[in-house]
Amino acid sequence: MNKKITVLSGDGIGPEIMAQAIKVLDKIGEKYGHKFEYTYVDIGGCSIDKYGVPITDEGMEKCKASDSVLLGAVGGPKWDGCPANIRPEKALLAVRKELELFANLRPTKLFLQLADASPLKKEITQNGIDLLIVRELTGGVYFGPKKTEEVNGELVATDVMPYSEHEIERIGRVAFETAMKRNKKLASVDKANVIETSRLWRKVMHRLSEEYPEVQYSDVLVDNAAMQLIKNPTQFDVIVTENMFGDILSDEASMLTGSIGMMPSASLSSGTRGMYEPIHGSAPDIAGKDLANPLGTILSVAMMLRYSFDMAKEADDIEAAVNDVLDEGYRTADIMQEGAKRVSCTEMGALVLGKL
Ligand code: IPM
Ligand code: MG
Repeated sequence: MNKKITVLSGDGIGPEIMAQAIKVLDKIGEKYGHKFEYTYVDIGGCSIDKYGVPITDEGMEKCKASDSVLLGAVGGPKWDGCPANIRPEKALLAVRKELELFANLRPTKLFLQLADASPLKKEITQNGIDLLIVRELTGGVYFGPKKTEEVNGELVATDVMPYSEHEIERIGRVAFETAMKRNKKLASVDKANVIETSRLWRKVMHRLSEEYPEVQYSDVLVDNAAMQLIKNPTQFDVIVTENMFGDILSDEASMLTGSIGMMPSASLSSGTRGMYEPIHGSAPDIAGKDLANPLGTILSVAMMLRYSFDMAKEADDIEAAVNDVLDEGYRTADIMQEGAKRVSCTEMGALVLGKL
């Protein structure tokens, strides 16, 4: 198969981790007879420096013209002072919106080889953690009207959190379908005791749950969900929630494993095109030092093959290669353990390549 991929390496460690991921993709192409064509587009701080905007219109068009988008990471202290409309993050939000990537899948999986990295007690993690957060990504307070105005001599800021039935229904459907393919268990997280959009959210989810009688469905209030994730994370399988709650809970969930550098993510539209990225940030403190963990990006490539290109075998192959390298005791600095073999970002990429 021939596939066009737009590569957004971004800032900080972005280019380093992306270089390893592209090598892996090339190897898969060679092994299975696919051709992957890359178009590189600047995004985030590097684009602000070159063009004065976090992504150019031309860059956005390239994303839209591709079969899929692969992203490294954006941002860094250098651009923290930029005005709100040209911050690096703005480009990320724009790509999500323009490509209608409304469904963000964020798996959290405890790699047994790295169980010691989890800050939780062994009794809590011993049954393994394997959950998936389905986060709504193009609605809510992130994209609602916002303003700051002067009222009675002081500034007043307002953000609006709108959700329409169809926006809730389409993310709900992705969550129920995903639950059907996993353990048929779905928790919908909201704040229906206070927030109006959460009340609508719950109503639509209940309607959908009637269509999926096999799925064991529950409503969980977001504050309670935050607590339960620490207290008893293994009770969850698929969690569906709105944009901002999903942002917060997915960071919390990723920490359960202690190895955020390993976690991939997928942002999907109603078609096959998606954007794939590791969930960690641009880590400016270690940028350019060949210290970063490329496995989150490599596993994001596996998700891309699985979800956008229908290449399950190829995706399994990458995941097995990562597992083998961990089994053999190779670790980048972020997941280093006593007695393990410490490797650089480039070496880690080469090890995965070797397994393929
Ligand atoms: C994420 C990030 C983004 C978000 C930021 C960078 C805008 O935190 O992908 O979780 O809030 O969605
Ligand atoms: Mg976040």
